[in-house]
Amino acid sequence: MVQVRHPYNKVTARIADELRKIVGEKYVVFGDTERLEPYSHDEVAEAEYAHMPEALVRPGTAEEIAAIVKLANRERIAVTPRGAGSGLSGGAVPLCGGIVLLCDRMNRVLEIDAANMMLVCEPGVVTNEINNQLADYGLVFAGYPMSLETCYIGGNVAENAGGGKAVKYGVTGRYITGVEMVSPTGEIVRYGGKCVKDVTGYNMVQLMVGSEGTLGIFTKIWIKLMPLPKEAVNLLVLFETVQQAIDAVPRIMTSGGIIPTAIEFMDRLSVQASCRYLNETIPYEKCGAMLLVEVDGSDEAQVERDYEKVGELCVECGAIEVYVADNHTTRERIWKVRRNIAEAFKVVSPHQSLEDIVVPIANIPAMIPELEKLSAKYDIQIPCYGHAGDGNLHATPVKNPSASLEHWHAILPHIMEELFKVTARLGGTISGEHGIGHKRKKYLPLVMGEAEIEMMRQIKRALDPNNILNPGKIFDV
Ligand code: LAC
Ligand code: ZN
Repeated sequence: MVQVRHPYNKVTARIADELRKIVGEKYVVFGDTERLEPYSHDEVAEAEYAHMPEALVRPGTAEEIAAIVKLANRERIAVTPRGAGSGLSGGAVPLCGGIVLLCDRMNRVLEIDAANMMLVCEPGVVTNEINNQLADYGLVFAGYPMSLETCYIGGNVAENAGGGKAVKYGVTGRYITGVEMVSPTGEIVRYGGKCVKDVTGYNMVQLMVGSEGTLGIFTKIWIKLMPLPKEAVNLLVLFETVQQAIDAVPRIMTSGGIIPTAIEFMDRLSVQASCRYLNETIPYEKCGAMLLVEVDGSDEAQVERDYEKVGELCVECGAIEVYVADNHTTRERIWKVRRNIAEAFKVVSPHQSLEDIVVPIANIPAMIPELEKLSAKYDIQIPCYGHAGDGNLHATPVKNPSASLEHWHAILPHIMEELFKVTARLGGTISGEHGIGHKRKKYLPLVMGEAEIEMMRQIKRALDPNNILNPGKIFDV
């Protein structure tokens, strides 16, 4: 558990009673370590990023959230909003104790407005459920985080989640046209709505997108939909080496004249771990790495031309095998392997650091030798997978099983610093989609100047004068 010095008061029995009055007896957990423990961490594997809350509250309405936040301001108690807890930067960890505010009861799709191609929902809707509900409308929400079967849309908006289809469709923020939220001082405010163009004042919606639960707690979200592409084909492309696979990525992006929906990269260790975890087989034995490329569209012939072009380019780049998956079952099997890599690695080793570096796409090939150098220097494996078409790689330093835990803890900060410095040198940054949270907070100055960080602090101070909402995240105030 991480130790933090902070100026907050603790949740007392009296405060717990007040919380019960706001949300109802059964939606407060207080003084029960066993039931509070699951809310002390997110999906970050390393236990040292965890911190226990003092109370858990599960509000059902915006008014209840507003009352909780007002109470927290009055009593100087930290509040950490939480969705499904699938985050990967410690964003939902209650670093200063206090209250974890869980959004799971606010899980309704409130409106599907097909005429305006909009959906309005609460923050606790499981992301995948959005598209399940849209199935009969021929519409789709383009967000595709790898945790879509468990994560909540509120968390996706708070982290500006990326995921597998951002090459063509962009990340979550592109589809968020409005938010209703409770401010850090307990006001219910709404910005934006169903208009796809809106320059009325500051772009508050996009300030809130990716604010990691530090500037507001979402209570309603407006999502822009698009027509569901009727055709989609996946190519599973095997390469002998990691470098060959990665070299093919900028080539596909720039010389095909098409924008693929996805270009996912998986090295052999990643595929192997996920296949074993799922008891699945996809043919990875003879390759060093593979690309999973998706093309989609409304016209079958066009999609066929596109994937043939991608296949040709991959062969020119040295691909040893190109498998075509054009039916839903096979495509889903492959994507499932891709989606489960992080989970599989967690099972393999809890002593690892799942990273989220991102570089401009032309520089992604230069990242591979750097990872190899780091791996040799520290005598560790750094399996790697990710959204190569976005330049976003989940390089994951894993503890060498033969090294001591002490040694691992001693070298990890150096590995991280070197990794981030080389990423910065290649024009990149330390998080493409998982966020800073508190896991990467100390590394923020490697990629951002003090003046830039200070301006963000000023926004936080202005909106949250008591620093009540998710304190200790992104930067210290
Ligand atoms: C993925 C998560 C870790 O891409 O972002 O699998
Ligand atoms: Zn990812």
